[in-house]
Amino acid sequence: MRKKIVAGNWKMNLDYNEGLGLFTEVINMVKDEATGNQQVVVCSPFIHLHSLAALAKGYTNVSVGAQNAHQAESGAYTGEISAKQVKSTGAEYVILGHSERRQYFGESNELLAKKTDTALANGLKPIFCIGETLQQREANEHFDIIKSQLVEGVFHLDADKFSQIVLAYEPVWAIGTGVTATSDQAQEIHAFIRKELAAKYNQQVADDTTILYGGSCNPKNAAELFACADIDGGLIGGASLKSRDFTDIVKAFN
Ligand code: G3P
Repeated sequence: MRKKIVAGNWKMNLDYNEGLGLFTEVINMVKDEATGNQQVVVCSPFIHLHSLAALAKGYTNVSVGAQNAHQAESGAYTGEISAKQVKSTGAEYVILGHSERRQYFGESNELLAKKTDTALANGLKPIFCIGETLQQREANEHFDIIKSQLVEGVFHLDADKFSQIVLAYEPVWAIGTGVTATSDQAQEIHAFIRKELAAKYNQQVADDTTILYGGSCNPKNAAELFACADIDGGLIGGASLKSRDFTDIVKAFN
């Protein structure tokens, strides 16, 4: 049975102490909520990772992730962080291909394919983000865009690697805008992604891959989204910065 995940993406928010404070609250509030195959992941800025991973130890349903990692193993890349360094903090996941990385840092599918390989080679589980812009949706290009992001970003991988990959559908027009995709819109894309996985690999890979929805997900709309057959949880931005809202989203699984 595929994993159900609620992952928080703190983005570039919270100083060191604020992050530790929020994570301590989150652990206390979600530790009895996430059960069985449900996982809570907090993707923090790099500065928090080691301390958060230490706090998460002992809670099997709570994990920590980074929001980026470099494609090279190591070297003269001033200011960058490698996958090995992220892994050494105790983090388990890494978000790759977030639309903010694609938009503001020019990350292409080709680069993201390399980052995915390096992350996997270092034992990190990528949360690989895909999603169309409003312009692309209005031009009815959303299925083509999603498909090319999959083909160029992750479809070079062998089938067995998908046990270590989480996909996240984040329509760019829904991120931080307060405009959520309707559950029908999100389900339609998630089903499409699963169909593409089955066509490229096999039904087992399609059935076992966790696919998250992200984009203005909140305590009010989470339950309806998570009830959809192909939506296995959420990647949460703004609402992950408030322990109560984030916990209520975790509770929306039940
Ligand atoms: O990665 C999470 C994300 O981009 C969604 O952000 O603030 O719309 O929940 P938000």
